[in-house]
Amino acid sequence: MVEYRKATFSEVEAIHRLCNHYATLGLMLPRSRNSIYENLRDYVVAVEGNNVLGCGALHFVWDRLAEVRSLAVEPSKVKTGIGREIVRHLEKSGIEKGTQMFFTLTYQPGFFSKCGYEESDKEKLPQKVWKECVYCPQYPYCNELAFVKVLPGYQAPTNKTI
Ligand SMILES: CC(C)(COP(=O)(O)OP(=O)(O)OC[C@H]1O[C@@H](n2cnc3c(N)ncnc32)[C@H](O)[C@@H]1OP(=O)(O)O)[C@@H](O)C(=O)NCCC(=O)NCCS
Repeated sequence: MVEYRKATFSEVEAIHRLCNHYATLGLMLPRSRNSIYENLRDYVVAVEGNNVLGCGALHFVWDRLAEVRSLAVEPSKVKTGIGREIVRHLEKSGIEKGTQMFFTLTYQPGFFSKCGYEESDKEKLPQKVWKECVYCPQYPYCNELAFVKVLPGYQAPTNKTI
């Protein structure tokens, strides 16, 4: 049975391997061990016994605003429902902290549509969101799409404040 839970130090190597496997295919940003250790509290993993089948992270960006990132499912297990369940766990943990808007930058629009996200104009996201872009091998020629899930009551911050 697949268990979904917060990542621990024991899963860092598996997260690193999964994310960087897909990063070499150009599907997501590479993640260093340093970045995974420093942001370990962001990560959720899907595990079966000792095997890590998937991972994902929720990173708080600004007031009530959080990014779903580093989402990856073991190649042999894609399209078995693990990705959606990881997103659900990340959203639950975000809502517990008061998150009202989730966003992601992705090459997987079909998947995020199935998770209830809608495509958004990238320009509508706060400028602070782009802080990490300079680390991306694709920068500045990025084709990622912005997808958002906005919960009732969310008021977008103006760029003047961030
Ligand atoms: C994208 C990814 C995380 C999706 O996880 P997954 O476990 O395969 O997805 P799920 O099985 O939970 O799929 C949920 C739904 O989305 C659909 N779906 C999954 N991947 C899809 C895709 N690439 N395009 C369109 N639909 C997709 C599934 O068919 C399913 O639909 P259904 O409800 O009609 O059955 C996974 O394929 C992956 O790791 N891809 C490579 C890394 C990557 O691109 N990560 C995203 C970075 S933002």
